[in-house]
Amino acid sequence: MIRIPDRNWTCLLWVSLALLVGCASSEGGKSDFASCVDMVAGGFRPVAAERDQRFQGKVGEDVARCRGGDKPLAFRSTPYVDWANYWAAGDASTLAPGTTSVGLHLSRNGRGIDGALMDLEYQRIELVKFNLFDNAGTYADYALGRDGVAGPALKVWPAMRLPRTSPDYAAVGGDGTQLCQGELIRGRTLSGICNDLRNPLMGSSGTPFARNAQFEATFPDLGKNLLARNRHGDRLSLLKPDPQLISRKLFTRAQSAPDKCREGQGLPGDDADAQCDYQKAPFFNVLAAFWIQFMTHDWFTHLDEGHNAAEQMPVGCALDSRGQPLSAAEIARLGCRPGDRIDRTLVVQDGEPTTVMTSSGPQLTRAYKTMANHNTAWWDASQLYGYDTRSRQRVKRDPRDAAKLLLAPDSRAGAGEQQGYLPAFAPGDPIAPQWAGQEATAFPDNWTIGMSFYHNLFAREHNSFVNAFRAQAALTPRADSGLRNPARPTAPIAYADVTPDELFEAARLVVAAMIAKIHTIEWTPQLLYDEPLYLGMNSNWNGLFADAKLVSAALERIVVNNFGTSDDARKATQWYSVFASGPGIFGLGNHVAPDNAEMAKTAPNPGDMWSLANPQHVNGGINHFGSPFNFPEEFVSVYRLHALVPDLIEYREWDANPNRVRAKVPVVSTFRGKATQAMQGRGVANWALSMGRQRLGLLTRNNLPQFLQNLDLPRLQSPTNRIDVAALDLIRDRERGVPRFNEFRRQYGLRQLTRFDDFIDQRLAAGSPARLQQERAVETLREVYGQHRCDASKIITTAQRNADGSAINDCLGHPDGSLVDNIEDLDNVVGWLSEYTRPHGFAISETQFQVFILNASRRLFSDRFFTSSFRPEFYTGLGVRWVTDNGPTGAQIEKVKSNGHEVPVSPLKRVLLRAMPELQAELEPVINAFDPWARDRGAYYSLEWKPRPGAEADPAFKP
Ligand code: HEM
Repeated sequence: MIRIPDRNWTCLLWVSLALLVGCASSEGGKSDFASCVDMVAGGFRPVAAERDQRFQGKVGEDVARCRGGDKPLAFRSTPYVDWANYWAAGDASTLAPGTTSVGLHLSRNGRGIDGALMDLEYQRIELVKFNLFDNAGTYADYALGRDGVAGPALKVWPAMRLPRTSPDYAAVGGDGTQLCQGELIRGRTLSGICNDLRNPLMGSSGTPFARNAQFEATFPDLGKNLLARNRHGDRLSLLKPDPQLISRKLFTRAQSAPDKCREGQGLPGDDADAQCDYQKAPFFNVLAAFWIQFMTHDWFTHLDEGHNAAEQMPVGCALDSRGQPLSAAEIARLGCRPGDRIDRTLVVQDGEPTTVMTSSGPQLTRAYKTMANHNTAWWDASQLYGYDTRSRQRVKRDPRDAAKLLLAPDSRAGAGEQQGYLPAFAPGDPIAPQWAGQEATAFPDNWTIGMSFYHNLFAREHNSFVNAFRAQAALTPRADSGLRNPARPTAPIAYADVTPDELFEAARLVVAAMIAKIHTIEWTPQLLYDEPLYLGMNSNWNGLFADAKLVSAALERIVVNNFGTSDDARKATQWYSVFASGPGIFGLGNHVAPDNAEMAKTAPNPGDMWSLANPQHVNGGINHFGSPFNFPEEFVSVYRLHALVPDLIEYREWDANPNRVRAKVPVVSTFRGKATQAMQGRGVANWALSMGRQRLGLLTRNNLPQFLQNLDLPRLQSPTNRIDVAALDLIRDRERGVPRFNEFRRQYGLRQLTRFDDFIDQRLAAGSPARLQQERAVETLREVYGQHRCDASKIITTAQRNADGSAINDCLGHPDGSLVDNIEDLDNVVGWLSEYTRPHGFAISETQFQVFILNASRRLFSDRFFTSSFRPEFYTGLGVRWVTDNGPTGAQIEKVKSNGHEVPVSPLKRVLLRAMPELQAELEPVINAFDPWARDRGAYYSLEWKPRPGAEADPAFKP
């Protein structure tokens, strides 16, 4: 049995020390304990003062040995982060010899885990410090500061004011100081304005995507500066290297029986004999794949109502890897299509950006081009509820109870079926023609069975909440619902007096928070299936001290009152981030304690002085770290996760032997309106079971769905009416100026690669099948991207330096004039899909993860509804309890421990059980709804693919 100790104070100490990690190295041959002593004695390195002195996830020799013995030492020369090799950071084989549990803090395993958490926190601090580049007109202030306040400590920006054209301009204060109040602060607004009371425009629909890379490093293809020209020569353009060539050579899934796959079309009649091979992740299911697509539809979209700019362009299948025209025979062999066309990306600004003079020289104030996020950037369930007037018109309310979403009941067996299904769009609904026949919802693009599933599921969750509220109202009509109207902040609103509109908006808040919770503590710990990330994600949400309420409360006060309000850039950013891991980000600042004993005596509610009438209380828990929140283009790039999707869904039925695969349903035969038919025809519980049991596609090379390489998009009216989405992934990143992979890593504070062979996982034995396969894959990279003779006089970056302090040049450490890999040209997506070296249980690469550390935290830190406004005044009392306990009936704890932890019944499991009670038996043994439901989770973070008791007959487990 694995035993996890109480991590409390010691852990905070370790985490706080993250600021100071790293120390002088010493000679080898030492014991790990001696290294620990030297590590402490050697002193700690402060947070990097300059961009080119960053941590890079690489620690000194003593630190490595103290936390992992010899293993991290063996891989310290690779570009990848060291913590992955610490004790206990993987499965049971990584526990220190002679141990079967994590044990105490200063034990080897404890040092491994705490060390990993320190490294992660250290990276978050430097990411916050070096990677925030807002495109919306605030960057000059960030770089220079304003009125004596350093840029990173600024909290209000003129660029975040509502413009005169906004219908709410007068309501927030017009030309004067703008402050959201009244109806505008009661819930999540349609366009996303007024989340931050003092920056009304922030995160609203139509505001520009931000950047995480220095503006100068964006759009390398344009060759706008010497560094970019030195880095890439004249080797790059929108269609060079050829995107369809890359797609076919590096992304195509090899098929052992192509006639049973038929480019993802499967066999007639959804015959279960169909077969489309794909590389599978043993610990992550298809529900997880569609979950993240469902999330991205909430967070961002570059498209406007399903289309891009009017102008169309070719998309490759024109040039071979030497830049020569492809012959007809080569085109046939590759299977690409020269006739494909796509509409260009929408661009908002492409004039020359202005510059500001900073202490480190002139800097651009925005990227060379900017694009708008047509969605709200908030985690507000806008894919369900809308992000502008037009999308809200697509959301159907129940005429019998306007607090509910309209669901049409179904007469089938299955207790959940009475809850019903979303109706299809009706004539006159404001939709793009291609969406006709789909379920009516706010964000209808790229609809398949996966989107249909989650939209129906959360529509049922919305109505469940309304039903529970109505039930309570029937029992105690005059009791205080907890809700308040900011116009009368102290007047209770009784259950019976809550209007349908008020209840609808409260339900939206609850659904959005449940989604954020599922994502943070259920989806992500399964995506990153190891102990450091389990603890890390839970501390983001609940805090490291979830079980120690007093410690949490004290830390929360320190964070909000001292660091949150500080004008000192260091306190406002670095310390805020570290100490917030104590109380957790969720709910930060939603209680206000009296400042002193005297006040406590006179306060009407001394336990909690939070007041809806006080904007500082409503808004006090947020922190944007000096840069308004929006997603960066780099984030979109690492969420191009099309490889997750299988071509065929192994369809099962819950009430007729779940172990049997009855049909193989091509995902493409559920595209758009066909999803709606498939959902209603076969039933949501059967789809839950099918996608819950099936493994998703590994995010790796040569694993893109066949159907996405050959997707019909008739709206284009191009010669082929088809598009290769894998090729489009590259083109869009190029159009939006995402830095190429190696500079991308340098910009994010990760170590660069110096040749394609660096992708090969050095932990694999020489000559092993997996290693040989990686070696072949690297050769294909070389073939497609090529090599050049390097010139050591060409400096290629200022983001990092060589270990000896010299500037990094075109030769990347190889001899001047030698033939080097064109690793600088690698498209970002190609690079992260090629990263075979990953921490244990990571379904994504460490490069993607680095982007995630920063933006996943910010998404919570910046949103008052997840921090200081997570309160009954907005959510209702029932809503707060629902989100806290994962439902209306109080917290429930699983009967068995998971990886040594006592865990609550997970939020998604509870949502599934509410919507589909018929799945009770199937879900009973499930701990995390994103782990394949019939898998035996085994011991400590096992990735083994073996059946749980009762599922032995499931053909998915046949060798
Ligand atoms: C299974 C069915 C899917 C289909 C049919 C589909 C289709 C598409 C298409 C056609 C585009 C390109 C739009 C354009 O730039 O013109 C796109 C973009 C994108 N897809 Fe998918 N996709 C699917 C699944 C997924 C999944 C599972 C993810 C995982 C996160 C994902 C993430 C993205 C992202 C991040 C973009 C870029 C969006 C933007 O530019 O704002 N997609 N998808």
